[in-house]
Amino acid sequence: MISYLVTGGAGFIGSTLSEKLLKEGNKVIAIDNFCNFYDPKIKENNIKESENYKDFKIYRADIRNKQAIKNIFAKNKIDIVIHLAAMAGVRPSIENPVLYQEVNCMGTQNILEEMKLHDIKNLVMASSSSVYGNCKEVPFKENMIVDFAISPYAATKKANEVMTHVYHKLFDINVMMLRFFTVYGPKQRPDLAISKFTRLMLNDEEIPMYGDGTTSRDYTYIDDIVDGIIKSCKYCMENSNVYEILNLGNSSPISLKEMINKIGQALRYRT
Ligand SMILES: NC(=O)c1ccc[n+]([C@@H]2O[C@H](COP(=O)([O-])OP(=O)(O)OC[C@H]3O[C@@H](n4cnc5c(N)ncnc54)[C@H](O)[C@@H]3O)[C@@H](O)[C@H]2O)c1
Repeated sequence: MISYLVTGGAGFIGSTLSEKLLKEGNKVIAIDNFCNFYDPKIKENNIKESENYKDFKIYRADIRNKQAIKNIFAKNKIDIVIHLAAMAGVRPSIENPVLYQEVNCMGTQNILEEMKLHDIKNLVMASSSSVYGNCKEVPFKENMIVDFAISPYAATKKANEVMTHVYHKLFDINVMMLRFFTVYGPKQRPDLAISKFTRLMLNDEEIPMYGDGTTSRDYTYIDDIVDGIIKSCKYCMENSNVYEILNLGNSSPISLKEMINKIGQALRYRT
């Protein structure tokens, strides 16, 4: 039985991943502070299924709290860390850059320090396609220069990629940094467009569309992300000297207009 520490375990991706790991017979130790970036009740609901498993443990703790994190690492045997806890979202990071810095950078540092102290050698972590900023060349490739972030959120994710490399080099920690591209599916964060537009349509309300709807982006289904995370864990645990940054997505962007039409069609089929 593998013992996974999943930070952000009550969030959209973390809770879906935890369920899958538990179903496969693993142990999951989750950390989440149930912050109010969106309604914490949604997060309580996200972990309901996992709470049925005896091998699931949830710590309501903040990764910024060094002592709390220390205690969790001291009390549990952990084989691998999947670090997903973060303040997500580009626009809100412009409003509150200090919070993003504290959670995403200082919080991550606390996790890395405990991994070092407890000799935990495997880390899979969420980065983001937002590190590509205004990059015009597509498809985005992992070896492109991403030094020109255009939001505090993107800057923290880039900083995470750099800092995890330091721990890889100095302390032999295997690291897979996964750049996600707008993840969608059941439990999607309510601040993300697909979830927001679906709610608006169901309430017969107008959808705010910025521009003419031709801007396009890549979306990745949650099950594919969960699969990618689990495969990355396996890769980390079976190899040594791993430091990889990986785009976890496809290269088939769809336009905003198309996306809105698809939601409309799906809802029509439902009724
Ligand atoms: N969903 C996407 O489309 C997407 C795209 C790119 C990157 N990501 C990254 O993937 C990860 C998971 O994203 P998500 O969509 O599941 O977001 P989410 O907000 O649903 O999950 C993040 C979880 O982290 C928790 N958290 C926040 N601050 C914390 C703190 N200080 N201490 C402990 N827990 C804290 C939150 O309560 C939340 O449950 C994040 O790192 C995010 O930046 C997500």
